[in-house]
Amino acid sequence: MRHLMSPLDFSTGELDRLFSLAEDIEQHPEKYAHACEGKKLATCFYEPSTRTRLSFEAAMLNLGGKVLGFSDANSSSAAKGESVSDTIRVISCFADICAMRHPKEGAPMVAASLSSIPVINAGDGGHQHPTQTLTDLLTIRAIKGRLDNFTIGLCGDLKFGRTVHSLINALVRYENINFVFISPDELTIPEYIIETLRERNIPFREIRKLEEVMPELDILYMTRVQKERFFNEEDYVRLKDYYILNKEKMQLAKDDMIVLHPLPRVNEISVEVDDDPRAVYFRQVQYGVYVRMALLLTLLEIEVA
Ligand code: NCD
Repeated sequence: MRHLMSPLDFSTGELDRLFSLAEDIEQHPEKYAHACEGKKLATCFYEPSTRTRLSFEAAMLNLGGKVLGFSDANSSSAAKGESVSDTIRVISCFADICAMRHPKEGAPMVAASLSSIPVINAGDGGHQHPTQTLTDLLTIRAIKGRLDNFTIGLCGDLKFGRTVHSLINALVRYENINFVFISPDELTIPEYIIETLRERNIPFREIRKLEEVMPELDILYMTRVQKERFFNEEDYVRLKDYYILNKEKMQLAKDDMIVLHPLPRVNEISVEVDDDPRAVYFRQVQYGVYVRMALLLTLLEIEVA
């Protein structure tokens, strides 16, 4: 039995197969419409989410399966003091697979170690968010046609943004990726990630001004300042509008650059950018459903002929 805790749990070959499956699902959804009949997905969300939870639910429903779960720690027995370990043992009796989001780093890993069903980490604190990374990689592969040889700018809250940490983690395995980290001084990328890049001799730069680097980028990954991980409101208020991608800045970019965002967006991308064909963040949401469908099939070991 396999779980998904980090994007590195799959080799690049396995990821390739997963993305090809997701692309086949996109092209022939009817082939997969009954693949998970009789199967149940539990979504255990101890932290707010719209996209990730509903994306998982849509994925299972598209496959003909059913879903159950909770979307708020207060409406689960966690409010009574139940541990994640006990909850997962109980959930294992109700469902065939579980997607878990938790504010504590490592909680889904603890759950996985005691679970008799596959557990998917749907985001653990500021740590990892592997299914968002699968979504990001599939989007890049589908639109750019490759997962190597590009310059990617990651902009915004690089300190607390788990989607950023997960994506870098996954991208270091591909050839010739050049990273540009764009953040205020207070929200720079964690040192452990910088060390990984140094160890592997992967080129990266840390800068403050987005305009400076726009013309070089093949991909711009914008992120929200992670309000819920700040210790004081004042710092959040000071930093929340540090970057705002607008039409003017988009004019500096290449014609085939693409803008990704894991969403939710707050102010960091002005709505005027939404009509730009290079803004692909809403398409990215759709790819998220296909890749989660492919992931559910893979972890449940269901093959569709
Ligand atoms: C992200 C998350 O939860 O980390 N959202 C998502 O799952 N699409 C990004 C965010 O909340 O900013």
